[in-house]
Amino acid sequence: MPSFPKPKIPDAVVPPPLRKPAKPGSGGTPRGQAPSDLKEAPERKTHGDKLLDQAKDAPIDALGWVDQRLAASGFLTGMLFRKVPKGTNWFYTLGSATLFAFIVQATTGVFLAMFYTPSATQAYSSIAHINNEVPLGQFVHGMHKWGSSVMVILIFLHMGRTFFFGAYKYPRELNWVIGVVLLILTMTMAFTGYLLPFDQRSFWASIVGININGTGPVVGPYLSDFLRAGPELGATTLSRFYAIHMLLVPGAIIALIGAHMYLVVKLGTTAPPWVKAQRPKVASPLAQLDAGGNGNGRVNGHRVDGAPVDGEGNGSL
Ligand code: HEM
Repeated sequence: MPSFPKPKIPDAVVPPPLRKPAKPGSGGTPRGQAPSDLKEAPERKTHGDKLLDQAKDAPIDALGWVDQRLAASGFLTGMLFRKVPKGTNWFYTLGSATLFAFIVQATTGVFLAMFYTPSATQAYSSIAHINNEVPLGQFVHGMHKWGSSVMVILIFLHMGRTFFFGAYKYPRELNWVIGVVLLILTMTMAFTGYLLPFDQRSFWASIVGININGTGPVVGPYLSDFLRAGPELGATTLSRFYAIHMLLVPGAIIALIGAHMYLVVKLGTTAPPWVKAQRPKVASPLAQLDAGGNGNGRVNGHRVDGAPVDGEGNGSL
């Protein structure tokens, strides 16, 4: 290829930090004379304008400061702008909806804990106090109570989606297993939370639940003894249920949701069963092997290492 001489780029269009400093004695701007780009400088800004500009830039500067130390923007960009398979639809929002329900439960739960007393003699009256006297208490309690059912319904719908779309197959088996543990933990949250108002209904329903647990094979009797925390359901049962409901299970759920999300981002999501895999544009047996079919004649458009595979139904939405 013949090479053409590069045209000289006019000084005015080069940003100041990239300009070459003039060699000493080679001319440059004569003493006492303003450089050419300053001669036609725009109107000088007042002190107030400068302050306003600084205030506008402050959040960006602060984020930049944090990002320089965390290097999180690469991760966030990868997560938020990742490719999704063709055919992605509303059913794929059920996982995020479950996550949202969990966040609502955690938030409302924190506020309820500020007023709730986990004692056999005061639990009932503290709930009555929340409902009748605390500002917005009944609203927050209602959100938490109904939110628990919403979360259970959503988690089942989400599990159904992943099952019917074949998302439990290779390479996502581990994420399915984590999901199963999340399901058990969510049910544990609903079960342990039910006793906390300590009214007649929650008391007798918990006895029924504990007895059902006791009928399980091998571990059943031990599990019901552990849950009851004594020969009869009473004050120690309430404390135990509260500790499980407040500390143990939420901590485990948060950790497992983190692992679940990590795998979703790393492996990508599965294409719906009705989306057929396209043949790679370039016939390359290696690319086909790498694409990792999921056992039902389609692939999700990502290799196991997360890289999108050309022509494998990985169009973004
Ligand atoms: C707290 C409970 C859960 C949360 C917050 C959650 C959240 C999510 C989210 C946001 C996604 C990505 C978007 C989507 O496909 O909907 C996802 C994917 C997935 N989840 Fe869950 N999930 C939970 C429970 C479960 C359960 C109970 C199972 C199954 C037993 C499960 C299995 C999966 C699988 C296999 C995927 C990958 C889907 C794919 O590749 O298309 N998850 N989850």
